[in-house]
Amino acid sequence: MRVVFLGAPGVGKGTQAERVADQFGVAKISTGDLLRDAVRNQTPLGREAKNYMDQGKLVPDAVVIGLVNEKLSGQSCENGFILDGFPRTVPQAEELGKALKVNGSGLDRVINFQVSREDVVRRLSGRRSCPKCQSTFHVDFAKSKVEGVCDRCSESLVQRSDDRREAIEMRLQVYDEQTSPLVRYYEERKLLTIVDASGAVDAVFERLSQVLSPYCAQ
Ligand code: AP5
Repeated sequence: MRVVFLGAPGVGKGTQAERVADQFGVAKISTGDLLRDAVRNQTPLGREAKNYMDQGKLVPDAVVIGLVNEKLSGQSCENGFILDGFPRTVPQAEELGKALKVNGSGLDRVINFQVSREDVVRRLSGRRSCPKCQSTFHVDFAKSKVEGVCDRCSESLVQRSDDRREAIEMRLQVYDEQTSPLVRYYEERKLLTIVDASGAVDAVFERLSQVLSPYCAQ
């Protein structure tokens, strides 16, 4: 299974990627998670990325492409992968195509998650994350057992700096301008499938599994 999860910030790509990776035994590569790790560890790359991320802007293509190529060539991708949040620009998509071609492969599918803008803003503004284990919760839709505390590691939950209103607006604008052209890009390559991402997490997963099961090696 070699798939890309595409869609506006907050549609639920990360939530579904986690479940699909568990269910189908494939690697999940989330550029957002990789970049946040780098920021937390204060690596040179993390220091460069932080400013862009806090403002809701995209990190330069070269930085992200390097990160993904390193992951794709690793052992964890032998059974396949889900790319969550990459590519996000046409140059990133072109570089991904080249990298896969070198290995004699290509993408099986690109999933375009769709949900209303109103839902996206509600999902993002209510998200809470664990700074230690990176688990994600939502104040209304995916509550932790104890309010404000991570179920897995008991750490206090925080709001991501880019989940504040101004950054959300910027991220949605960046999506419209720089990422949405990928819908046409992958449509032209006959790789795009739209998945309705409204409703409960389980219902979305059900729809998604039906689309992805043909690509599962069993
Ligand atoms: P990234 O972390 O990738 O953020 P994003 O794409 O904006 O996506 P999100 O993680 O915000 O949303 P999601 O769709 O994964 O939703 P989630 O499942 O978490 O990127 C962050 C930043 O890194 C970017 O702004 C950029 O600066 C940089 N970056 C990353 N990749 C890059 C790239 N390729 N190029 C350049 N820069 C890059 O769900 C959201 C909330 O909704 C959660 O609280 C969840 O519990 C809840 N939820 C999920 N599903 C449902 C549901 N069905 N019903 C109700 N609630 C739900």
